[in-house]
Amino acid sequence: MSLRDIHTPVLLERCVELLAPALERPGAVFVDATLGMGGHSEAFLERFPGIHLIGLDRDQDALRIAGERLARFGDRVTLVHTVYDGIAEAVTGAGFDAADGILFDLGVSSLQLDVADRGFAYSQDAPLDMRMDQSAGTTAADILATYGEGDLRRIFERYGEEKLAGRYARAIIAARAQAPVDRSGRLVEILIAATPYVAQRSGHPAKRVFQALRIEVNRELAVLERAVPAALDILPVGGRIVVLSYQSLEDRLVKRELADAVKSTAPAGLPVELPEHAPRFRLLVKGAELASEEERARNPRATPVRLRAAERVRTSS
Ligand SMILES: C[S@@+](CC[C@H](N)C(=O)[O-])C[C@H]1O[C@@H](n2cnc3c(N)ncnc32)[C@H](O)[C@@H]1O
Repeated sequence: MSLRDIHTPVLLERCVELLAPALERPGAVFVDATLGMGGHSEAFLERFPGIHLIGLDRDQDALRIAGERLARFGDRVTLVHTVYDGIAEAVTGAGFDAADGILFDLGVSSLQLDVADRGFAYSQDAPLDMRMDQSAGTTAADILATYGEGDLRRIFERYGEEKLAGRYARAIIAARAQAPVDRSGRLVEILIAATPYVAQRSGHPAKRVFQALRIEVNRELAVLERAVPAALDILPVGGRIVVLSYQSLEDRLVKRELADAVKSTAPAGLPVELPEHAPRFRLLVKGAELASEEERARNPRATPVRLRAAERVRTSS
């Protein structure tokens, strides 16, 4: 089975449609800030024969797999191992000074979820690693071994929006006094045991805690908060950005950054807006767009997706 059969890129046709006006320009540069297995990128390289792709990922396995998949496009492709808040440096490092189209398809890839030993999935027992970049940083097991009860509670509340955060943090502290909590199977057992019967009906008890640990391990929200403005900065007039988010914390952050970019900076009370105060961007979709019923049925990964998109309409100066 080819990668194309295993993994269907989410909202592909809509992403192509939204980015087309920017990528049909001669010599256009397309940045796929979350290359993953290269599904979106492959389709963009096929549909827009004139583009140069700069593909970023912090996961070296993803870069290797996507590199093999995209090898047939030769020197139209530059792949960069980086966290995506380094987007501007990646573009200049590849020899360009702007990006005409930018795509962020946030979160973990099916590759990361499916490879059991990376510890992202609560359905498979594995060491609790959860680093997207396995060459650096703190693992989920390190966090569970070293954070105090208050800090565990805070991340479960903030990044998992978990109502039972305090109860789960206490249970982990008690369990780790007996033996390290360093495998996903053991963490799931601890969480299930700490979940009151009445709360067991609302989804898997481990879902939100796993999400919170993943966000903390990879500093996902802090990185995204820097990455969106950095991406907007390298778009020329007519350049476009599309962001696909899969959980509300990310989507809220993207919404806020784009709302900021489309705001007029005219001081309150000024009767006429001066050109230098006019918005730098316009939104391309109203609110957040969802996948159709048909796509959700075909591709369950598309179920939680929220798409937002914007176009630069004037320079910053
Ligand atoms: C949902 S997948 C992308 C799937 C891809 N669009 C495709 O069609 O194959 C997200 C990818 O982004 C990467 N990623 C997540 N956060 C990142 C970050 N802060 N910097 C760089 N890459 C990141 C992950 O390692 C993962 O490979």
